[in-house]
Amino acid sequence: MSRNATLNARDNHTTKSRELEFASTIQIAKTQERNLVQVHSVKRLEKKKIIMIGAWRAACASFRLSSQILRCQHHGLGTSSHHLSKFLMSNIKESPAKKMVSITWKDNKTDVFPYIYLRDNCQCPECFFKDSNQRLVDVVRDVDINVKPTKVELSEDKTNLSITWPDGHVTMLDADFLFKKRLPSEVELKGRVYTDVTTRKVELWGSEFKKHIPRMKFHDILNNEAVEFEFLDSLYRYGLALVTDMPTEEGQVEKLGDHIGYLRMTAYGKTIVVSTRLKANSVAYTSYTLPLHSDLPYYEAKPGIQLLFCHEQIPSEGGDNSLVDSFHVAEQLKKEDPHAYELLTTTHVLFHTAGTDILGEYDLEGARPLLELDQNGRLLRCNHNEGTRQCFLGVSAEKTQEMYEAYYSLTTRLKDPNNMFLHKLSPGEMIVFDNDRVLHGRMGYTLTEEAGRCLESAYIDWDVARSRLNVLGKRLNKGPVARMDSKLSVTGQWSVS
Ligand code: OGA
Ligand code: ZN
Ligand code: ZN
Repeated sequence: MSRNATLNARDNHTTKSRELEFASTIQIAKTQERNLVQVHSVKRLEKKKIIMIGAWRAACASFRLSSQILRCQHHGLGTSSHHLSKFLMSNIKESPAKKMVSITWKDNKTDVFPYIYLRDNCQCPECFFKDSNQRLVDVVRDVDINVKPTKVELSEDKTNLSITWPDGHVTMLDADFLFKKRLPSEVELKGRVYTDVTTRKVELWGSEFKKHIPRMKFHDILNNEAVEFEFLDSLYRYGLALVTDMPTEEGQVEKLGDHIGYLRMTAYGKTIVVSTRLKANSVAYTSYTLPLHSDLPYYEAKPGIQLLFCHEQIPSEGGDNSLVDSFHVAEQLKKEDPHAYELLTTTHVLFHTAGTDILGEYDLEGARPLLELDQNGRLLRCNHNEGTRQCFLGVSAEKTQEMYEAYYSLTTRLKDPNNMFLHKLSPGEMIVFDNDRVLHGRMGYTLTEEAGRCLESAYIDWDVARSRLNVLGKRLNKGPVARMDSKLSVTGQWSVS
């Protein structure tokens, strides 16, 4: 026999025995499925889960018989090794005393995985519902915090880790998954304190931004997903976008809200007519000047995005909107008056409003710092609202002067002409902005017999806009762009996929 023929014969033989192994695996799976299905012939969904569990157990059994079978690309038994791993493991080492296993990757770098963490992240159908990406296992209820595996094995092709637990449960995790879930070390974490707002991928601006406001046509946002993505991305990045060419008819603001997701209901209704009212329950419904502010800080879930659509604009002087990037100003304050920044980020301000609107009576109260930070010290919200501010909470009589000085230090910077600009909306234009970041105001105006001013206001929660941004990002191949945990992706932990 020629060398090639020998190789072919050997290949044939290997393929045959693999087929046999494969067939027997299927057989085990089928028997298990049948048994399990017989025992639990309940709802369809549950059946599906049980079938998957049966298949999973069979796959685990076959892993124990021979890890070679995992190389079979067509077993389709719900194990996670159906594709070739991008990341390969070269070695594993157990440290039972430390309750962890260390994995050395092909590039010789090592990561450690605590046992409880591996158990908690088991991806088998008993522990994890893949359809909705939700954990089924309740580790607190089901798993001993000090659990130690009875066996940890690396598959022969180095792409899978199999962990057998004392109760016989088997967790199989592939290298890609493990790589994604690796944890930063203490030292790595120490170096990563997030204090720079720009890590939120925002671009800060001053008054020069008046010439660069991103503009999108209403029709294009509704009919072209790339434009819609750009619109939402601008809101994320600059906190501001201008929608043009909107029909000055009722229902258009809601149409846009429904397209992105849904509008946020508030005590003032779903959409709000902003014009001079006979009996005004807010300064907004007069023709007075409205100083720079953020809307509705008295809500615990403060609306994230505000839409202000112009139906009718006063032709004479006034009625312009003032706009400022408060994050840009807060950065200036942090550098130039760090003590004021410290006070304003740590002192809660009480906000309150009460009145009657189309939905009836309301009485809302909430407290938050004027400059609200996240746990990494990054700016989350600016909650400046003169109209509804009540008092600085927990500030003594002796410290009150100092508190006002800090407040002035911020507000004078907000109004600085280098930071703020004016834009007078024309009928058919809608300004949309991040209510947590971009403060808005309005110049007073004088009503005449002939001319009035009528805006329509509404809100969209950031959750809704962020979700849409991620959905479109995926669809347009731009990737998820607005994960709350994307800051952690810098560490490689939970990296955005
Ligand atoms: C508001 C508001 C501005 C305007 O209703 O919240 O700030 O231009 N209105 O009337
Ligand atoms: Zn499991
Ligand atoms: Zn407002």
